[in-house]
Amino acid sequence: MKIIAGNWKMNGSRSGLDEMISALDNVETQNTVILCVPFTMVRGGTSRVAVGAQDISTHDKGAYTGEVSGQMLSDAGAKYVIVGHSERRAYHNETNAIVAEKATAALANGLTPIICVGETMDEKQAGKTMEIIESGVRESVPQNVSGKIIVAYEPRWAIGAGLTPTDQEIAAAHTLIAKTLESMGLAGTPVLYGASVKGSNAAQIMSIEHVDGVLVGGASLKSDDFIPIITSVK
Ligand code: 13P
Repeated sequence: MKIIAGNWKMNGSRSGLDEMISALDNVETQNTVILCVPFTMVRGGTSRVAVGAQDISTHDKGAYTGEVSGQMLSDAGAKYVIVGHSERRAYHNETNAIVAEKATAALANGLTPIICVGETMDEKQAGKTMEIIESGVRESVPQNVSGKIIVAYEPRWAIGAGLTPTDQEIAAAHTLIAKTLESMGLAGTPVLYGASVKGSNAAQIMSIEHVDGVLVGGASLKSDDFIPIITSVK
């Protein structure tokens, strides 16, 4: 059984989400299916598909104009929230420390954080991939979260680019993440791969050791693209 999560980023509509959920409700699968949508679309899911958000405030409530709290996300029906996505790190200066605070805020409100780590092209070219991944996990994952989190490895240079690392690179990254989590007392934490996943490469990527599922951007927007990813693995 794998975890197949979609990240709609800043796309879609409420009616489009209703249509997607209706389509997914008819899919025969044992896999866990999650759709992380913009704040305005967050709603309760169904027995087949859970709904999540893409960001969360570090604060509980108060004078933080424009922020959305974990309590609000729970109240709207969310079960999951992505934290530390590459685009939040790039455009909103989110550091590992902020990501850890956001993950803590999610857990305090009964949400499962999907904690993203991954290297930029500059870091990759400087030979720092493994270092960035390991420090990303150590610094972005809070203490005492066994069984409560999901980690996603998203090589930042490959997102939306139609590029994917080699199978060996994915295996090395996921093995390092699994070992790092184990050393933190978090053995068995699911680790998703994300960046340019589509129907044609999903099964191969999910056959790689320590890849427990995928986090899908562009190919999660249309049911014709997303369903083949969900059904590509048992
Ligand atoms: P793409 O699948 O569009 O490359 O996006 C990946 C991603 O950022 C998922 O969070």
